[in-house]
Amino acid sequence: MDYQYILTEAHERAGLIRLNRPKALNALNPGLLGELMDAAEAFDADDAIGCIVVTGNEKAFAAGADIKEMAEASPVKMLDSVFIDLWDRLARIRKPIIAAVSGYCLGGGNELAMACDMIVASETAKFGQPEIGIGIIPGAGGTQRLPRAVGKALAMEMVLNNRWLSAEEALQHGLVNHVYPTESYLDEALKLANAIAGQAPVAVRLGKEAVKAAFETSLAAGITYERKLFYLLFATEDQKEGMAAFVAKRKPDWKGR
Ligand code: CAA
Repeated sequence: MDYQYILTEAHERAGLIRLNRPKALNALNPGLLGELMDAAEAFDADDAIGCIVVTGNEKAFAAGADIKEMAEASPVKMLDSVFIDLWDRLARIRKPIIAAVSGYCLGGGNELAMACDMIVASETAKFGQPEIGIGIIPGAGGTQRLPRAVGKALAMEMVLNNRWLSAEEALQHGLVNHVYPTESYLDEALKLANAIAGQAPVAVRLGKEAVKAAFETSLAAGITYERKLFYLLFATEDQKEGMAAFVAKRKPDWKGR
């Protein structure tokens, strides 16, 4: 597939998507986001891929939405633009998505990382919602996902006063899963992706769905939903295989059904 703003490649069972607008620090525009969603959907439909990794480059994961393209926009132009709506396609990806973040992870870039399921960071990663500095607020989920990730107090400071988090702080506050040296963060993200891709596929899919539901429902409704998915897994060959392998003290051979 020929893309203008991204690069894609498979690393064993991990599907890697690289944001590739380095001159603009990977600023997100409709063209880039559309390609990102196309690539994520293609990996989601590909049986050879078990997990998706989204990354930028060493200097920038993404420095936010493209300010130059929005500068003169009217509310109606923003409403008509596909830019924000495109994000909904990411929420429909069934395979796990890991953001591998180095350098600037700002504004829409941080919102993109938070819309993924996990974040692996390099030591140089910097997380922030600097929209207040250009007279707006986050518009792609930042005000909602950030407090859920780091708590209300810190989220308020980040959104209202452009407070950035270092990689270590992001780890401390639960925004990221791991921090690695810049030379190895992407390899580590791919390793994690391949490890997840080696787990029972249907259970991975339903596990992702169940954890995501925790952010959308009451505790009681979420627990009921989890229970249904748990029972459903007893209809899979992989549940029979996983438990038989445990009893026989051998490695399971997952079929994804
Ligand atoms: N949009 C468009 N272009 C951007 C950009 C952005 N968000 N961020 C950086 N660039 C461009 C710069 O304009 C510059 O281009 P030129 O060489 O053509 O001038 C190039 O990328 C390199 O950037 P800098 O020279 O500014 O690099 P720096 O190292 O001095 O500074 C930075 C880096 C601190 C990240 C700075 O670029 C910056 O503050 N960027 C904007 C961050 C921001 O405000 N993001 C929020 C955007 S709004 C948003 O995301 C809304 C939403 O919720 C969806």
